[in-house]
Amino acid sequence: MAQQHGGPLNVDLNSAQMIYDEYGRPFILLRDQDKTNRVKGLEAHKANILAARTVTNLMRTSLGPKGMDKMMVSPDGDVSVSNDGATILDRIQVEHQVAKLLVQLSRSQDDEIGDGTTGVVVLAGGLLAEAEGLLAKGIHPVRIAQGFEKACQIALDHCDDISDTIPVSPENTQILIECAKTTLSSKIINRFHDQMAQIAVDAVLAVCDWERKEVNFDLMKITGKEGGRLEDTTLVRGIILDKEFSHPQMPKEIKDAKIALLTCPFEPPKPKTKHTITISEASHYEELYAREQAYFTEMVDLCVNSGATCVMCQWGFDDEANHLLLQRNLPAVRWVGGVELELLAIATGARITPRFQELSPEKLGSAGTIRTVEMGTTKDRMLVIEDCPNTNAVTIFVRGGNKMVIEEATRSLHDARCVVRNLIQDNRVVYGGASAEISCARKIYEASNEISGVDQYSYRGFARALESIAIALAENSGLNQIETLSEIKRLQVEENNPHLGVDCNCNGTLDMKEQKVFETLLGKKQQLLLATQVVKMILKIDDVMQPQSMGMM
Ligand SMILES: Nc1ncnc2c1ncn2[C@@H]1O[C@H](COP(=O)(O)OP(=O)(O)OP(=O)(O)O)[C@@H](O)[C@H]1O
Ligand SMILES: [Mg+2]
Repeated sequence: MAQQHGGPLNVDLNSAQMIYDEYGRPFILLRDQDKTNRVKGLEAHKANILAARTVTNLMRTSLGPKGMDKMMVSPDGDVSVSNDGATILDRIQVEHQVAKLLVQLSRSQDDEIGDGTTGVVVLAGGLLAEAEGLLAKGIHPVRIAQGFEKACQIALDHCDDISDTIPVSPENTQILIECAKTTLSSKIINRFHDQMAQIAVDAVLAVCDWERKEVNFDLMKITGKEGGRLEDTTLVRGIILDKEFSHPQMPKEIKDAKIALLTCPFEPPKPKTKHTITISEASHYEELYAREQAYFTEMVDLCVNSGATCVMCQWGFDDEANHLLLQRNLPAVRWVGGVELELLAIATGARITPRFQELSPEKLGSAGTIRTVEMGTTKDRMLVIEDCPNTNAVTIFVRGGNKMVIEEATRSLHDARCVVRNLIQDNRVVYGGASAEISCARKIYEASNEISGVDQYSYRGFARALESIAIALAENSGLNQIETLSEIKRLQVEENNPHLGVDCNCNGTLDMKEQKVFETLLGKKQQLLLATQVVKMILKIDDVMQPQSMGMM
């Protein structure tokens, strides 16, 4: 039952009836209000594919070094600009259930690999477009899915065959930098990709454990501060805290600091329940004041006696404590976040202490210098903690004109460091510019000629979907898509060279090995696998039921 409050009501009038209650107020009675919408069979397949392709078409224009960025505005008005597939899909509001699968697809590529999140969605879109054509030919969806899966296996094996193993070692970082540069080339920061790639590689190498081939991202922090230029971005071998000492008269720099990390506040204990203190004479007030002072003095004494020369506190402290700390020459920082505190603990070797009484010399951490840096004309201050015993921890300090640029630069640097990490774990690369995809497509065409039956069609469909990546790259770079693709296909066969791809930057050569456009084998294979998996899943849905109120799109 619904009572009308003005404005049009979204009801089916055939199943509605208007009646009046005892006071003469009108009611509308609705029958079957939560009837479900149901689409079955081929209709369901087509509706799903249509919805999914709406999303993939959106992402096509973001692919490649000449890809466009998207601007997303959140419901509360926050604006972000990004080229990163996973971020775009995360921020746009997708209603349709099948389109949501694509959002997850991009996210899983992001979690596993970090880069290639646009490519994976575009590939899935290509596969779905082909599937639509095959469905129209009357091929059963499950057969299509099976064909795609076999074709995908051929592509995966072929990727292994055409991949090159590159030398990766702490001394030989040139190729790592090239790979990071390829990743950064499609991002807003590509003007400085040499410098940014160097920073990403240096950061990863600083925290990398070569024996176990592990890279601990927890030791690597990316912080940004508005102001300055993008090229002022630096790698700090230490930790940056967006804080300053609690009192302006505290020293600006501490050498050979002994740091106490505290999670207890510099304030007298507060009664947990409601108490009333009645002060009736001046002596009572003085007693209370003296007691409070004693608390502060004891706390500061405990810190000083433990040998600390700097205190980092998770909580705040009031002017009384601040004054006392200054008097006792103990520089302090307040409101240090939990994550930073942990990072400080790792880097300086300190133990986080929850009570003043537990402070002891062994629980203190050490750092070579703690210094205040001032930036720009606004005199923004930050603390830099360097020369920590556990030198591993590094911070990438991003500068940029505004928040959006810094956020996008942070995401791009994340992509780059993921790629470097992947290469340390598996040092095989394929070449970009869709050269690997075209080569795989050629292999699949060859295979399709050798089999009989319906799978032939699915194989060819899969191959065309792979080629659609090249088409998208060419389209975004302003090249003639068909001409470019057929030229590359011809040359790949003639020269038997799987490294020929789309020359997006018009450098005059199609050879991606020469152009140094590298992609990780791991990432490319993951893209193929994930895209095929999602398409298979979408093809297997033949019945969609949902409440009518949600509509179908
Ligand atoms: N200099 C280049 N010349 C030709 N192709 C390039 C070049 N640099 C990158 N590419 C190609 O561009 C594609 C990558 O584009 P992009 O970085 O926009 O998307 P993604 O890596 O799939 O997703 P994201 O970076 O958003 O996670 C790859 O196919 C890559 O081979
Ligand atoms: Mg990329």
